[in-house]
Amino acid sequence: MSPFQLTRTLPEDATDAALRADVLQGLTRTPKTLPPKWFYDARGSELFEEITALPEYYPTRAEREILLARAGDIAAATGARTLIELGSGSSEKTRHLLDALPELETYIPVDVSGSALTAAADALLAERPGLTVHALIADFTRELALPAAPGPRLVVFLGGTIGNLLPPERAAFLRSVRSLLEPGDHLLLGTDLVKDESVLVPAYDDAAGVTAAFNKNVLSVIDRELGADFDPAAFDHVAVWDAGNEWIEMRLRARAAFTVKIPELDLAVPFAAGEEMRTEVSAKFREERVRDELDAAGLALQHWWTDSGERFALSLSGPPARR
Ligand code: SAH
Ligand code: AVI
Repeated sequence: MSPFQLTRTLPEDATDAALRADVLQGLTRTPKTLPPKWFYDARGSELFEEITALPEYYPTRAEREILLARAGDIAAATGARTLIELGSGSSEKTRHLLDALPELETYIPVDVSGSALTAAADALLAERPGLTVHALIADFTRELALPAAPGPRLVVFLGGTIGNLLPPERAAFLRSVRSLLEPGDHLLLGTDLVKDESVLVPAYDDAAGVTAAFNKNVLSVIDRELGADFDPAAFDHVAVWDAGNEWIEMRLRARAAFTVKIPELDLAVPFAAGEEMRTEVSAKFREERVRDELDAAGLALQHWWTDSGERFALSLSGPPARR
């Protein structure tokens, strides 16, 4: 096998069909919603990278601190020969793990963003010619057909992206990850932690307006892919802390009443002035919730590591030991 293989498990038309179904369903219900996975076209992936460098957006720095401090522990606990990364994006932080895993042979980054995936895989191969990289364009909320690769396997899901799934989606996702794991394999999971609203809200509503542009990018995706006439300037970016659900909710608020036409769906969508459409939740966690959710999926928590500011956590779990 060549050291770099790109596999698309979602054909272009499946992606189209999924976008159509999500937009039709989300924009004809009350309140309107859109799933966050559609943020990430090439522009959305670039905007997310800009977000990670913002002074207000602490999760990337906090998670990097943990990875740097714990990479050796992770290597010792897992002995991984294959690293499978879900929602890998730029694979930037993953480099700290790749550097620390002495037995690693194969890296399988999985992402819906083909542009982020190819850029990351190209860069990694140039730096590490000995590594086999099998990049997979796929939706991690669907069944994953992973290429055969040597064990032990370490599945990593970084960035706190699990918080972008709603609780029932999270439960299904963790069960599907569990089904990929054999005894001796592991899951390394990044979760952002519950903290004061005064820190959380600016992280999702930065002064430079990058998160607002990221949020509105989903409208540009729908305009381009489905011929819609959303005007991103007709919406305000909104980030609110929902204390009951312990999640940040990103919304787009219509500045006036108007109707958006989506010719590809033969749909006209009326918005009232001030109407808010939910585009993302970003759940924040406590150790007990992570332990319980892993447990419910058949995964035993083995390590819980936080950064020095206790803002973010990495947990290592795996199938429970056989008795
Ligand atoms: N892991 C990186 C990137 C996080 S951004 C980090 O920690 O910085 C979230 C990434 O998940 C994006 O690259 C996005 O394209 C990808 N993503 C979001 N929803 C997805 C889905 N349903 N299936 C596969 N990838 C998804
Ligand atoms: C990818 N994910 C973990 C980010 C988050 O923090 O929920 C996406 C994001 N949304 C706004 N800013 C960043």
